[in-house]
Amino acid sequence: MTTPFSWDAESLVDLYREVRAHTEALASPLSPEDQTVQSMPDVSPTKWHRAHVTWFFETFVLADHEPGFSPFQDKYWFLFNSYYEAVGPRYARERRGVISRPGANDVGVYRANVDDRMHDLVTSLDGGSLDKLAPTIELGFHHEQQHQELLLMDIKHVLSCNPLQPAYAGVPSEPCEPDDLGWADVEGGLVEIGHDGSGFGFDNELPRHQVWLEPYRLADRLVTNAEWLRFMEDGGYARHEFWLSDGWARINAEEWRAPFYWQELDGVWFEHTLNGTWPVNPGLPVSHVSFYEAEAFASWAGKRLPSEAEWEHAVTNGPAAEATTTTGPADPATYHPRPAGPATGGLRQIHGDCWEWTSSAYHAYPGFHPADGAIGEYNGKFMSNQMVLRGGCVLTPTGHTRSTYRNFFPHASRWALSGVRLADGGAPATTGPAGDAR
Ligand SMILES: [Fe+2]
Repeated sequence: MTTPFSWDAESLVDLYREVRAHTEALASPLSPEDQTVQSMPDVSPTKWHRAHVTWFFETFVLADHEPGFSPFQDKYWFLFNSYYEAVGPRYARERRGVISRPGANDVGVYRANVDDRMHDLVTSLDGGSLDKLAPTIELGFHHEQQHQELLLMDIKHVLSCNPLQPAYAGVPSEPCEPDDLGWADVEGGLVEIGHDGSGFGFDNELPRHQVWLEPYRLADRLVTNAEWLRFMEDGGYARHEFWLSDGWARINAEEWRAPFYWQELDGVWFEHTLNGTWPVNPGLPVSHVSFYEAEAFASWAGKRLPSEAEWEHAVTNGPAAEATTTTGPADPATYHPRPAGPATGGLRQIHGDCWEWTSSAYHAYPGFHPADGAIGEYNGKFMSNQMVLRGGCVLTPTGHTRSTYRNFFPHASRWALSGVRLADGGAPATTGPAGDAR
């Protein structure tokens, strides 16, 4: 991970407290029972997230640097290791929900213990030792922020499985209609993408490198629910010509006929959100659609998905970059994507509404090297069978995302807060019956 910034102990302690407190604030509306449920294998219980991010600091910071280290509980190393082979065996991911002990309150005790030990360690280090350790602690901040976002995505699914349809928090946006879709033209050419080494970046954002882009354009806002309803009404989920073969097989095997959290009741489509279950709001971005669905929608619209290089270049250096809006993230009012707002001449909804599917497979940038040791498992080993998403979403903690950030999920993932931005020009667009979303 890259971060040439020099930390002092006070700044590290302050940020540590801030990040850790935010996790507890997100968990505070949830009962111990809420925090224990695992509603599907992709979802982890809230209390597991709270414990795992604590395990991360204990394993990657305290274990090697705390004088006289011994783990808070031996078995916690087994329970709260996520996927680090080099650290040792771990409890099966899909069975995290059957663990009733430690309970949510016990996890709080674990967190407080590690917090005290982290404080003692950081404030006892000399300058040279602090400089060496600070990048790993900073990685722990960003790791915990990733789990803050996951905690919200996961509890959304947990609560969606309850017939009482409970809300997590927040209030819905007022019903609204989408405005006209605009386009931002980008010249292309030989451009650079990737992290430039200033400030924090994950290893998968490196190294910065050159990419050739044909001229292209990006939609100035995300695809809306109203446009997605037109896709559905035009047989979008029933016409094979829009779908990749794998996607067509998947939607038929699992009978997908609408976005993940939509359900039809008496002819009206409703959507489950963190702020409750409401009639689908036409002007909001469509969310919780898979890569397969995003790609099929683009095909139906006679457009395509942007590549990750197109997305990053347009946001950082394109002619529309100065007017590009960052509506969020982490809106405490809705916990749900919001309307695009007035046209700006640039790109709207870039960093704060939905993670945006790209046409780019998640793989290593030229010259990529994972870090040495167990921490090298953080990103690199997942570089197969996944697609890159860019931007950020309304659940992403403030300050966590950036224009070079590469999120990634498998093609069929729908529980993540993902949406769609269309592209056109440059690489050949998929041809198909044109919808109205253009
Ligand atoms: Fe993790």
